[in-house]
Amino acid sequence: MAQRPKVYVTRRIPKRGLDLLRSLTEVKIWQEELPPPRDVLLREAEEADGLLTLLTDTIDADLMDASPCLRVVSNYAIGYDNIDVQAATERGIMVCHTPGVLTDTTADFTFTLLACVARRVVEGVRYVREGRWKTWGPMLCLGYDLHRATLGLVGLGRIGSAVAKRATGFEMRILYHDIDRRPSLEEELNLIYADLETVLRESDFISLHTPLTPETYHMIGAEQFKMMKNSAILVNTSRGQVVDQHALYEALVSGEIAGAGLDVTDPEPIPADDPLLKLDNCVVVPHIASASIATRTLMASIAAENLVAALQGRMPRNPVNPEVLDRW
Ligand code: DGY
Repeated sequence: MAQRPKVYVTRRIPKRGLDLLRSLTEVKIWQEELPPPRDVLLREAEEADGLLTLLTDTIDADLMDASPCLRVVSNYAIGYDNIDVQAATERGIMVCHTPGVLTDTTADFTFTLLACVARRVVEGVRYVREGRWKTWGPMLCLGYDLHRATLGLVGLGRIGSAVAKRATGFEMRILYHDIDRRPSLEEELNLIYADLETVLRESDFISLHTPLTPETYHMIGAEQFKMMKNSAILVNTSRGQVVDQHALYEALVSGEIAGAGLDVTDPEPIPADDPLLKLDNCVVVPHIASASIATRTLMASIAAENLVAALQGRMPRNPVNPEVLDRW
């Protein structure tokens, strides 16, 4: 019998994905809560034909050079900024990811986070738990309405579009900025295309949906916060590094903007003593926008399917660098 390919999975993921890998490959799984340390990852990758990685694993040229058998890196995420894709392509290593499946779950969560900040839900919960709720208060926890507000989307890919769809239910006026215009979506959802500055100046709520690239690194910084309304709320479910967090802190403290909801931070995890965590107008959660049971299970299946397909020499469903297959 031909030898099964060797696969290393860098954390426990939902069973469905692991079952598929167990049925077709020789799998080893890192069992700890924290990601495998670099030396462990290097040691395991050295033997592996395939890696199933998370966004917490740095897969760079050094690791690839130390892994002579490595043919595929399947990321359990839509984002793949943890992987040096160019280095992978140069070495004939296929990179895959899990787009599509987490779109609606992440868009739902974007609204959850927005509502939490705009309607001061976390402050309200704390108020009750601390025993401070004495009576119904006409001025208690006053926030901002979502309905009929202006929403500014920075990035109109899959998730940005899904957020726009939800915003129509709130009768929002929706502005967007992206490097590409989407005329059919503009028509379907009544979206208004604008340059970034206009989106920042006119929106009540600004939601970020860009990948992390050299161009989007600190795309929202001191200058951009100055453009925003004092009542603006920023929501980030993309990548922490898209926002200059020091500038965000200053903007929140000085009242340049009214609030922020962060699913992602820079770094992750955000240190427990970070000053942002002391602010009532900032809600930070631990990168959970895609964390529904159904979606994380699907992500596991898809990441495993992508890995197996590439190991079998077939085109996976979600390749990042499909051109590699021609070279095999
Ligand atoms: C991703 O997939 O890139 C998210 O950030 C985590 O699900």
